[in-house]
Amino acid sequence: MAGLSMRRAIRIWVGASTVCGPPRAAAKGWENRVKIAIFGLGYVGFTAACCMSSQGRSVLGIDVNARKVADILAGISPILEPGVDAMLAEGLRCGLIDAACEADARLGDCDMAIVCVGTPSSADGSHDMRYIVQVTEQITRAAGFAARTGR
Ligand SMILES: NC(=O)c1ccc[n+]([C@@H]2O[C@H](COP(=O)([O-])OP(=O)(O)OC[C@H]3O[C@@H](n4cnc5c(N)ncnc54)[C@H](O)[C@@H]3O)[C@@H](O)[C@H]2O)c1
Repeated sequence: MAGLSMRRAIRIWVGASTVCGPPRAAAKGWENRVKIAIFGLGYVGFTAACCMSSQGRSVLGIDVNARKVADILAGISPILEPGVDAMLAEGLRCGLIDAACEADARLGDCDMAIVCVGTPSSADGSHDMRYIVQVTEQITRAAGFAARTGR
């Protein structure tokens, strides 16, 4: 991941879980400038995006489901979860929430990537990691683009 950004190292978390708290004022100091990419805008990723934006963080959500991305950008939550509708509306209004189907050069502006795609059970009971592999390939492509463009 060293080539992802010339200015920042990027950390990747997989399978993050979140707890929603009440909205609070924007984070102070350097935390206020942190940009977070979230891969997978399902129950975990979308809730995380809403909670983080409600705390003043800039969030770029990435999901392969174009309908889900379009709905989010239109202010329509893809899930039913208390409080997310208001947090989404406020995040869009403040320019803190963005969404896309593919990681692109904007990933180079992010300080951290959180991977929240599904890991369903395979027939033999093991985790099906195909979506994690796809995200890894997306990040690799975006990192190559960022390195080539110097972002
Ligand atoms: N939902 C929970 O309560 C919960 C709790 C703990 C852990 N988890 C774990 O968190 C992860 C996410 O769970 P969830 O419930 O949010 O899943 P979900 O099915 O609701 O959402 C997953 C999202 O990932 C998207 N996706 C798939 N491939 C992608 C790709 N290559 N790039 C970008 N987006 C992609 C899907 O379109 C979908 O919107 C899973 O590993 C799950 O086991 C979930």
